[in-house]
Amino acid sequence: MDMNIARICGDGIGPEITAAASGVLGAIALKYGHSITYHDILMGGCSIDRYGVPLTEEAVRTAKSCGAVLMGSIGGDPAVSPWYQLPPDKRPEAGLLAIRRELGLYANLRPAYLFPELAASCPLAARDGKPRSFDLIIVRELTGGLYFGARRTETVNGVLTATDTAVYNENEIRRIMKSAFEIARRRRKKVTSVDKANVLDTSRLWRKIAAAQAADYPDVRFENILVDNCAMQLVREPEQFDVIVTENMFGDILSDEASMITGSIGMLPSASLGEGSFGLYEPSHGSAPDIAGKNIANPIATILSAAMLLRYSFGLQREADAVEHAVRSVLTDGLRTADLLPKDPEEAKKCRPVTCSEMGEQIAARI
Ligand code: IPM
Ligand code: MG
Repeated sequence: MDMNIARICGDGIGPEITAAASGVLGAIALKYGHSITYHDILMGGCSIDRYGVPLTEEAVRTAKSCGAVLMGSIGGDPAVSPWYQLPPDKRPEAGLLAIRRELGLYANLRPAYLFPELAASCPLAARDGKPRSFDLIIVRELTGGLYFGARRTETVNGVLTATDTAVYNENEIRRIMKSAFEIARRRRKKVTSVDKANVLDTSRLWRKIAAAQAADYPDVRFENILVDNCAMQLVREPEQFDVIVTENMFGDILSDEASMITGSIGMLPSASLGEGSFGLYEPSHGSAPDIAGKNIANPIATILSAAMLLRYSFGLQREADAVEHAVRSVLTDGLRTADLLPKDPEEAKKCRPVTCSEMGEQIAARI
């Protein structure tokens, strides 16, 4: 297969982790007889430096002309980076929000799976003397809610006042519910819809549409829970969840929480999908400016995102499996980037510390 992939290396650790993922995709192409053409585009701070804006129309056009987008990370340290002197709609993050919206990527899939090899890095206490074991996926609505509602800062009666608006219409809720139920059908057939229906109108509509969709999937178990309870349940008993579906803001927060219980936020991939097979694939973590350029970042979230790209955008199931097996294999062999090294010195002795690029090379070599 000839694959055209738009590639966004981005800022911070973005170029390092994207290079590692590209190496792994290269190994896949070689082994399975595919060809990959990358179309590099700038987004985020590097685009601001070059073009004065975090995302150009040309970049969006290039992305649209490809089968998928592979992305590293964008943004810098707001305390020191000049990008954050710009108005909010000109900052790096605005580029990411714009590309999600421009490409119609409303369904953000964030699997959180605890590799048995990393059980010692899971911050949750063992349960009944047994190591933790969970495998859930957060389906986050990505192009609505507070992120895209009207916002303003103004002076009202002499008092500085800021407003953000959360808006959802029934169609936006229905389509993300449909994504969640379809995914659940291919997994353990359980959907947990997360909202704040005891307070918010958007959540009450969310719950109503969710119930109507659930009726179309009698084979899938369905439950509603409130977002505060969900945050608590995730650290109490993540084993109870299969598919969690939620709105944009709640999904942002819960997915960071879910990632950390897998041992490191450096492990969590994501796929952002719309209608059809096109998608954008990026790690759930950010650009970690504090460790940028040091070759110590964990590239696994980006490599697992590349596996999702193969599976969802190009239908290459066997190749995606091969990437995931290779990741599993480096973990089994004890290779660990700094974030994955167990705190316990005895446990750490059994591991081999590796750099970002070594981790990428080792995964590629196992393909
Ligand atoms: C994420 C990030 C983004 C978001 C930021 C960088 C705008 O936190 O992908 O989770 O909030 O969606
Ligand atoms: Mg986030």
